[in-house]
Amino acid sequence: MNFREEENVVIFEHPLIQHKISLLRDKHTGTNEFRKLVEEIAMLEGYEALSDLPTELQEVDTPIETCMTPMIAGRKLAIVPILRAGLGMVSGLLALVPSAKVGHIGMYRDEETHEPVEYYCKLPNPIEERTICVTDPMLATGGSAVDAIDQIKKHGGKKIKFLCIIAAPEGLERLHKAHPDVQIYVGSLDRQLNKDAYICPGLGDAGDRIFGTK
Ligand code: PRP
Ligand code: URA
Repeated sequence: MNFREEENVVIFEHPLIQHKISLLRDKHTGTNEFRKLVEEIAMLEGYEALSDLPTELQEVDTPIETCMTPMIAGRKLAIVPILRAGLGMVSGLLALVPSAKVGHIGMYRDEETHEPVEYYCKLPNPIEERTICVTDPMLATGGSAVDAIDQIKKHGGKKIKFLCIIAAPEGLERLHKAHPDVQIYVGSLDRQLNKDAYICPGLGDAGDRIFGTK
């Protein structure tokens, strides 16, 4: 599949995103810097991903006159991180849209099967009307993202975007096939998965690097 020609798949080529991802990959990058970089990349990706957020005209008094001017209406955005690592991207998106509601989906990958196990789901209610940004830095086999989006759709979510920092071709294909209506934003499309379903070259375990565990 040539992802660069697929509708609903955006693979960023912006030098700022590429540079920051290179710093993330470096095993010498410590937790503090890693967290900051994840937040900044989320903000840069979010700027593009939210370019179609609906606006409505509101009346504003400038020092010169009264005008009708576009504003993002209150109940338009929900951010849904996949725990844990997706949490690291939330602050970057909230910096762009501070009024967004935040839901959470808890998933971990079984170490043997690499299949996702859901342990938590709390979403803003109602969610039907909102643009929903699901965040997870890593799209590896795609199992976690597919299941998380299944859940969101079961709760009524319709307009869904998935933002990740690094994707493996296997995961991107699986997610795009399972949810072709979801707009997928990828910071870097890496080479492949290894036998442990880690992304190569990747950046290691994103959750552990963000939270300083292990
Ligand atoms: C990582 C990552 C994704 C998932 C990706 O989470 O943050 O959620 O793996 O893998 P997949 O595409 O093969 O499903 P992990 O299970 O390590 O949990 P954590 O974020 O709590 O560390
Ligand atoms: N989850 C991670 O955190 N890293 C990978 O490379 C794959 C899954």
